[in-house]
Amino acid sequence: MNALVSNANAVLEAQQLTKRYGALVACDQVSLSLLPGEIHALIGPNGAGKSTLIHLLSGSVAADSGRLALQGHDVTRASSYQRVAAGLSRSYQITNIFKQFSVFENLLLAMQACSGSSFSFWRARAQDKVLSEAAESLARDCAIAPEVWPVSAGTLPHGEQRKLEFALALASQPSVLLLDEPMAGMGPDETLKLTELIASMRGRTTMLLVEHDMQAVFRLADRISVLVYGRIIATGTPEEIRQHAGVREAYLGEEQA
Ligand SMILES: Nc1ncnc2c1ncn2[C@@H]1O[C@H](COP(=O)(O)OP(=O)(O)OP(=O)(O)O)[C@@H](O)[C@H]1O
Ligand SMILES: [Mg+2]
Repeated sequence: MNALVSNANAVLEAQQLTKRYGALVACDQVSLSLLPGEIHALIGPNGAGKSTLIHLLSGSVAADSGRLALQGHDVTRASSYQRVAAGLSRSYQITNIFKQFSVFENLLLAMQACSGSSFSFWRARAQDKVLSEAAESLARDCAIAPEVWPVSAGTLPHGEQRKLEFALALASQPSVLLLDEPMAGMGPDETLKLTELIASMRGRTTMLLVEHDMQAVFRLADRISVLVYGRIIATGTPEEIRQHAGVREAYLGEEQA
């Protein structure tokens, strides 16, 4: 990781990231800055390139051109593992939960992975205690009730699994957390609970939130960027975005009427 790119204040700064799939330009010179502690929502119609941008930021897909800086360091060529180690975390939806393990074991494993300790059978007991206390504290912060700690993660209701997934993503105390449609497939009650949970984590990490649920977006976002056909057409406060004529025409008009 080399020297900085430009906006010294930004936690994450994408400059003109482009990704083509054949003739289709899924992300077209996308520039985006995440400011410290903000919840930044990324909205736009289906197929606009939101998930592609998340992939470019996390490093699971390589950009054709453009640059990316994490806390002032150029990570354009860093692997996704290197980006995670540098503080960029991504919620991988249900797939990062070990379904056959209990909720608490999942939290413990995440803590252990982040602490860099090994799976050694002879691990010091003191270390076990530290990890277990950290896992408990994370569970409480994320409103995961002690009653469900012994339950197999795979048997939890969908909304509870999403909450656990969010907790697991926070275990590494990331400087940036990327969330791609965390509310997808949830009922209104579960959506509300996860919205409150994300709100309660405001300031603990910087978040980029891709979400179609406009109530959640306008409740949570400090700033919103709007992606249409691979291009960011506006970035601003929720109020600025609500009033933006081009955004209403391209997206919000149909969503919010
Ligand atoms: N691996 C791929 N190969 C080819 N085309 C792809 C690939 N991934 C995405 N695309 C295309 O790129 C465009 C952007 O897709 P993307 O999944 O990023 O959109 P999105 O904004 O996340 O949509 P949604 O709101 O439905 O999740 C779409 O036209 C999609 O078909
Ligand atoms: Mg998507």
